[in-house]
Amino acid sequence: MTLFRVAPKQGSMRYFEHAVLIVLSAVFALSTTGCRSSSKSDEILVGHYASMTGSEATFGQSTDKGIRMAIDEINAAGGVLGKQFKLITYDDKSDAREAATAVTRLVTNDQVTAVLGEVASKLSLEGAPICQQNGVPMITPSSTNPKVTEVGDMIFRVCFIDPFQGFVCAKFARENLKAQKAAILYDQSQTYSVGLQAEFEKSFVKLGGQITTKEAYQKGEQDFTSLLTSIRSTKPDIIFLPGYYNDVGTIATQARKLGITVPLLGGDGWESPKLAEIGGDAINGCFYSNHYSPQDPSPRVQEFIQKYKKLNGNTPDSMAALAYDATQILRDAINRAGSLSGTAIAAQLAKTKAFDGVTGKITIDEHRNAVKSAVILEMKNGVPTYVTTITP
Ligand code: PHE
Repeated sequence: MTLFRVAPKQGSMRYFEHAVLIVLSAVFALSTTGCRSSSKSDEILVGHYASMTGSEATFGQSTDKGIRMAIDEINAAGGVLGKQFKLITYDDKSDAREAATAVTRLVTNDQVTAVLGEVASKLSLEGAPICQQNGVPMITPSSTNPKVTEVGDMIFRVCFIDPFQGFVCAKFARENLKAQKAAILYDQSQTYSVGLQAEFEKSFVKLGGQITTKEAYQKGEQDFTSLLTSIRSTKPDIIFLPGYYNDVGTIATQARKLGITVPLLGGDGWESPKLAEIGGDAINGCFYSNHYSPQDPSPRVQEFIQKYKKLNGNTPDSMAALAYDATQILRDAINRAGSLSGTAIAAQLAKTKAFDGVTGKITIDEHRNAVKSAVILEMKNGVPTYVTTITP
C-alpha cells in the first residue's frame, strides 16, 4: 500500500502537485476534527483485518462470518445510535507486514470508528500500536498473548489470556491425563506459541510435572522427523504442541508414523475445521483447550449455532463465536458511550460487565482482558468433543 507523501521534495514541486496536496490536507484536516468517521452520517464504519487467505485462512474466514452475522442482527434491530454498522474487511494474508498495512489503511484512509481483529497474536501486535496511536479502539476477539492489550488503553480482547490457558492445559495434563513427563514442541515464529509453551511449562512444573525436552520449529516447516525423533527418545507421557492447526495436523501425522502413540495436547490454535482434514486419524485421541464447545447445551449457544449454520452451512468454530461476541460488545459500548469518539467508546468497553456472550459471561478487567472459563476438547472421529470446563 502506498501512502500520500506530504513533504514535497526540495524545489521540485510543480503547481499541480501543490494544488493536490493542499486539497488533500484540507480534506484530511476536516475529516480528523470532531468525529473521526468519514462514513455517511447514517453509518458507523467498523474495520476488520484478517487472515482471509494464507497459512491461517480459516481464522479470518470464520471471524469475518461471526462479525457479519452480528452486524446483520444489529442493523436489522435498528442499528446503534440510529446508525447502521458497515463493515470493511481487509485480507492481511496471515502476514505481519500486510496486517500493519491493512490497519493503517482502515484507520487513516477509511477513518473507521473501531477495529476488530486479528486472531493470531503476532498480527494483533502489528495492528494494536497503530490503533493506539490514532485513538481508535481495537478489540481482538481471540488473540490470547498478554502483550496485545498491554499496547495501551485503546486495545481490548474478549477472550482469556495465555497464562490462564497454559495453566488449564497443565492442570488437565496432570489431573486428567495423569501425565508426569511432558515434552514441548512449539512454533518459534509465533508470539502465541512462544508465550503459551512458557506458561504451560511454568504451571506443569508447579503442579509437580517434569519437562523432558523442548524443541522448536518455524511455521510452515514440512519435515518434523528429527525433532520428533529426539522427543521420542525422552519418553514423555504427553507432547505439548501449542501451534496452529496446519502445522499441528502435519506434526500429528509424522509423530504417529514414528510410532509415537502418546496423546498430543494443544491450545486454541488447533481450532479449525481443517485440523481433522490435515491430521486425519493421527489427531484422534488428542486434546486442546478452547473458548467454547458447540456441544454446550445452553440455549444461548444452541440458538447461535442454529442461526450460524443456516447462514453459512457449517458449525461455527470458536473464532466465529468470539467474533460475534466482540461485535456485540462493541455495539453495547457505543450505545452506552452515546457518541463515536474513540476515547468515549474505549471508556465504555473498559466498563463491560457480565456481558451475556455466546462464549460465556464477559467482564473486562483492569488490563482490558476478559476473565472466562476454558473448555478441553478431545478429537474423536475428527470431531472436537467436549471433555471438561476449567474455571479461572
Ligand atoms: N489465541 C491464538 C493467538 O493468540 C489465536 C486463536 C484463537 C486461534 C482462537 C484459534 C482459536 O494467536
